Amino acid sequence: MSTVKLAIVYYSATGTLDAMAHHAADGAEKAGAEVRLRRVARPATTGEREATDAQAAHAEAAAQTPAAEPDDIVWADAVLFGSPTRYGNIAGQLKTFIDSLGPQWGQGLLADKVYAGFTASQTSHGGQESTLLALYNTIHHFGGIVVAPGYTDPLKFVDGNPYGASHVTGADNAPLADADIAALHHLATRVVTVAGRLAS
Ligand SMILES: Cc1cc2nc3c(=O)[nH]c(=O)nc-3n(C[C@H](O)[C@H](O)[C@H](O)COP(=O)(O)O)c2cc1C
Repeated sequence: MSTVKLAIVYYSATGTLDAMAHHAADGAEKAGAEVRLRRVARPATTGEREATDAQAAHAEAAAQTPAAEPDDIVWADAVLFGSPTRYGNIAGQLKTFIDSLGPQWGQGLLADKVYAGFTASQTSHGGQESTLLALYNTIHHFGGIVVAPGYTDPLKFVDGNPYGASHVTGADNAPLADADIAALHHLATRVVTVAGRLAS
């Protein structure tokens, strides 16, 4: 069986999704995948508040990660999209990248791949599930195959999100808990495993 190619494409303003994406990449590599970790570039006109010191430091670190290109999705057998929860939906920056994929969609180049998502929100009922489900609306238009984690491992009864992987930051931007990291590893491993089965 050939090596599964996984693209992890994410947006992060203050570093949470960046950390989550790196943990997902770690899990996927341990599962034997070749991984492209790609950030969605932050447009100048986001309407966001002026960057805090933490955001500025994060922006510097994030600049080390290559910017996502449409070819990253075409290249991949499986794709993990990561976005902060924004008003119960994915961030406009990720949506703008997804909307740039029209030509690839028109040629059927986004179909027949495995997709899943991960997110973070400030509050525990702040819309993580609606964000992931909104993301998956788009995957159906791609003709993609959504591989949600469900409760396929006992650890999913700890993090409790069958739609993807997620983290609650709280007001102080709390670091990821062990259960969040385990859920990200499980999601990445599951996506890589299913993509490998489809390829064979
Ligand atoms: C414009 C905006 C909208 C947001 N909407 C929500 C929301 O609906 N629910 C919630 O719990 N948190 C919300 N948040 C908080 C973000 O989800 C949180 O800061 C984010 O997950 C942190 O990810 P990052 O560090 O990768 O940027 C919002 C933040 C911003 C800036």
